[in-house]
Amino acid sequence: MMKLHIYDTREAASEAAAALIAETVQALPAPVLGLATGGTFVGVYAELVRLARTSGIDFSRATTFNLDEYAGLPRLHPQSYYSYMVTHLFGPLGLRPEQCHLPDGSAPDPADECARYDALLAQAGRIDLQLLGIGHNGHIGFNEPDHALRSGTHVVELKPETREANARFFASPEEVPTQALTMGIGSILQARAIALVAFGADKADILARALAGPITTDCPASLLQTHGDVRVFADAAAAAGLGALTR
Ligand code: F6R
Repeated sequence: MMKLHIYDTREAASEAAAALIAETVQALPAPVLGLATGGTFVGVYAELVRLARTSGIDFSRATTFNLDEYAGLPRLHPQSYYSYMVTHLFGPLGLRPEQCHLPDGSAPDPADECARYDALLAQAGRIDLQLLGIGHNGHIGFNEPDHALRSGTHVVELKPETREANARFFASPEEVPTQALTMGIGSILQARAIALVAFGADKADILARALAGPITTDCPASLLQTHGDVRVFADAAAAAGLGALTR
């Protein structure tokens, strides 16, 4: 089942998404969160940190698993997803290192690292709430459009459009890594609940394809239509193509 939460502004949508994360953490004795990075989540995490401070939400029982990480970047590279998470969430919330998991993009053997990550996920048992952004080509995590998709954590070749979109965070486009480690579609779809967040007119077409188009590996986010509990948090600009779904 898909539930749409559409707001006039991205700030209002970010507040609603952050409130859902906070509720999940408060409701469960040992919450497991699946986390995403990217421009979309900067405001969501800022709001979550604000909520945690004002409402005293206890994150000490939470465990987190990030979706993905660039391959070949040192953990502490300013553009690594590890650095992003420390800056925007782990640091401000004071999470302990052992609570927070990301694939290690600098691991000498990426295949081993993917297996290690899947073993950790299996040990955690389930993800209670998986956060997802969406790429302009329909990727979720770094599961790029392809004729087939993988279930578990794997190394992926980033598409030129993904490298271009993410070049805004790097000093030059050539510095954007060509590969990443990403959780697979199987792991994402096993989450108990999923929150898909999308902002801006540039996401309108792909959001409509993902939510109302055919289910196809050409648009990995369309597989979310097969999941029983997906909540979509969008601003009005990103939701502009949803037409019939919103009525
Ligand atoms: C990031 C991730 C990606 C992004 C997507 C949208 O961890 O998994 O799928 O969510 O590329 O990125 P932004 O939010 O920068 O538009």
